[in-house]
Amino acid sequence: MKVLNLERIAAIAADPARRTAAVPDAPADLSLPFIPEDQTHLYYTPGYAALTRAQKIRYNQLFALRVNEYIMMLERDFVDPVLKALRRRAQQQGSAALRHALEGMLAEEERHYQAFVALNRRCAPRDYERVEAQFMRLRPYERAVLRAMHAGARWLPFALWIIVAMEESSIALATSMVRHGEGALGPLEPGFVAVHREHAKDEARHIHIDVHLVRACLATLPAAWRLLNASLFTAFMRDMISPKAKGTSARVVRRLVAEFPELASRASELIASLVALKDHEKFQRSLFNRKLTPLAFALYDDEPALANLGKVLKAYERPAAA
Ligand SMILES: [Fe+2]
Ligand SMILES: [Fe+2]
Repeated sequence: MKVLNLERIAAIAADPARRTAAVPDAPADLSLPFIPEDQTHLYYTPGYAALTRAQKIRYNQLFALRVNEYIMMLERDFVDPVLKALRRRAQQQGSAALRHALEGMLAEEERHYQAFVALNRRCAPRDYERVEAQFMRLRPYERAVLRAMHAGARWLPFALWIIVAMEESSIALATSMVRHGEGALGPLEPGFVAVHREHAKDEARHIHIDVHLVRACLATLPAAWRLLNASLFTAFMRDMISPKAKGTSARVVRRLVAEFPELASRASELIASLVALKDHEKFQRSLFNRKLTPLAFALYDDEPALANLGKVLKAYERPAAA
């Protein structure tokens, strides 16, 4: 995948058809699934097949709300503070054009956040009446990493490697939603698809800005600092791809069990199978791979300090040195 230059990115950003547009506010059709089944966690566990159709659809909807919360967390806790902290460095090491692109991206992420809040409120008005997130609650470890990341963004911009992978994933999700068709659980909720499809338009530019930012703010650091950034990034990714018994994914299952009490006797088995996904080859390969996250993987290829990333990301194979 070719990286767009900043002039091209600016030209695309000026075209309204290639920017994220607001989706009309209409109540969601709660008889339909929200995302493709293979974008949920339980789908990869043995217990999923035994769920009834109604349970699968409800699980799908709850998990999809959590997906939106995850994207919101990325936009507000990662992209926003990290990019704000890197503004000056982007201009010094990159250019005024990079800084300009970054400012545009910041404004767009704020609008995305609001669009996902509104979408979750349309889908579950009572759940989100007073809060913007019901599943995402950062653990003390995650909070500590975020604090370090914000405070030291100048020297610890490893979040940029996370941001590019997550933004490419959000585009891959939108693509799979648009292509979904009928599916075993029926077509996807149209309003839900529309918000993700629109979101992917801005993200298709952001991933290229990310590459410029990594080159200006990360690749220019001394080797010892890049090594430290690489270990923080690797630890973060390892944590993120391992569902926890008390994590957000398990919280979705507990909510499903609360709505379907007949599942209570199977709750611990379902949660144990979620935790086991950390070693599940197919699940792990579905999260990040060269087809879904090509620019992120290309950036990892460029970084000598990430030579061992394949130990954590199962689908990451280091290309043979030229
Ligand atoms: Fe976004
Ligand atoms: Fe973005």
